[in-house]
Amino acid sequence: MKDKKQQLDILNADMSQCSDCVLRMQCSRVVPGEGNAEAEIMFIGEAPGQKEDETGHPFVGAAGKFLNEMLASINLKREDVYIANVVKCRPPQNRDPLPEEVSACWPWLLEQIKIIQPKLIVTLGRHSMERFLEGQKISRIHGTLVIKTIAGIGRQNFYTLYHPAAALYNGSMREILIKDFNRIPKIIEKIKSEG
Ligand code: URA
Repeated sequence: MKDKKQQLDILNADMSQCSDCVLRMQCSRVVPGEGNAEAEIMFIGEAPGQKEDETGHPFVGAAGKFLNEMLASINLKREDVYIANVVKCRPPQNRDPLPEEVSACWPWLLEQIKIIQPKLIVTLGRHSMERFLEGQKISRIHGTLVIKTIAGIGRQNFYTLYHPAAALYNGSMREILIKDFNRIPKIIEKIKSEG
């Protein structure tokens, strides 16, 4: 039986060959995601931007630097968690991914989640949240633990945050994001204590 890292390595290598939507024709490379295959926490953003497209790593631009700082503030490193996106290829000019692009990429993300089996999925931004928690408003549910059964995954804990890129230059949103982020250790504790 292959361990989680081996399974993820195979999945992410397959993903790098994907051409199921038009995005792959316009981006430089697939950005599958990276981190600890045994992670308790999985962060899921929207889609790679320019820096991510250039390097093949998720969240390495300004938003990524901010994410790293927030992780450090709760004594976590990138290597402790898993970081991925709903869409694995950069949309041209960073436009919002189209519904058909999100749908084409969805099975890859589901497989990643099934392998990692995180205790908590932290969605970064509205688009990531909407994919799992359809019909919700980020302004209402940010910073709260939501438990939902998702087809293909099962019962899963979700925690919604504002996107670090959106909060970076918006003082009040930044404050809210940092406050919500700092609650992650307590949320994990609560999930563990409830078994
Ligand atoms: N924004 C995202 O949503 N994902 C990245 O990887 C980088 C920026």
